[in-house]
Amino acid sequence: MAKSPVKASALRMVNVEKYFGSVCALKKINLEVGHNEIVGLIGDNGAGKSTMVKILTGVFPPTSGELYIAGRKVDLRSYNVKQAHAHGIETVYQDKSLGEKQVLWRNFFIGREMTLPFGFLDVKKEKEIANEIMVNTIGFRGKGITVDSRVSKLSGGERQGVAIGRAMHFDAELIILDEPTVALSLKEVAKVLNFVHKIKEAGKACIFITHAMADVYEVSDRFVLMDRGEVVADIAKKDISLKALDEFLLEYSHGMKDKAER
Ligand SMILES: Nc1ncnc2c1ncn2[C@@H]1O[C@H](COP(=O)(O)OP(=O)(O)O)[C@@H](O)[C@H]1O
Ligand SMILES: [Mg+2]
Repeated sequence: MAKSPVKASALRMVNVEKYFGSVCALKKINLEVGHNEIVGLIGDNGAGKSTMVKILTGVFPPTSGELYIAGRKVDLRSYNVKQAHAHGIETVYQDKSLGEKQVLWRNFFIGREMTLPFGFLDVKKEKEIANEIMVNTIGFRGKGITVDSRVSKLSGGERQGVAIGRAMHFDAELIILDEPTVALSLKEVAKVLNFVHKIKEAGKACIFITHAMADVYEVSDRFVLMDRGEVVADIAKKDISLKALDEFLLEYSHGMKDKAER
């Protein structure tokens, strides 16, 4: 069998800047996420993490800079949420990405409904696929949850699982998780981390945003620290232990505080 060529990185941001009026939320960001790489993106509130996600997912354009997805330059003038999906970028917002009152199977197809000729919804097909995602992609087992269950019956971690499963099914190459473990119990956090393992196993890439490092240490290949709109550190996991990383973050935040008090 021929050796497959080296795959381009999933994502590359070059000198990306974002201003809101005169406020600079992102300052010359250069970030690369490798093919099948899991990047833990860390930083305090206001660091610019969510702004970055919104640019990547086509919610709004950057003020300047370039974006490459799977090695191809994106035309930022026409880039939007739909195009981001078409490029294989999906995001999973905390809780808000799933309609509470909806039944699960419908939830998998929001904005991408499958239709029969004459425009009728293909309910049977949608249910079949939803079940396949639940059982095989995310490995839901028993506990009385079926494709007909309401989303409100699911725990926080299970909801994250559904959202991640959906992103994986639609063949996202890069899945962005913006603080998915906030407000989850320890057991639930473990579930979400297990889903991230599945992303890795499926050959996809992921940006996992958090400000709790202990959460993502295990699942990440690399850590990127943001502070006030800038990337201030980029460290491969093989080069740092969790303890050293924790100490580094603590020292870093103290250093910043000292500077502010001076
Ligand atoms: N729509 C917006 N309008 C104006 N300022 C914004 C907007 N969104 C974010 N900001 C500002 O940009 C900075 C980064 O915010 P954000 O990306 O949400 O940070 P994080 O997700 O790391 O907490 C903050 O100073 C925030 O107030
Ligand atoms: Mg945020």
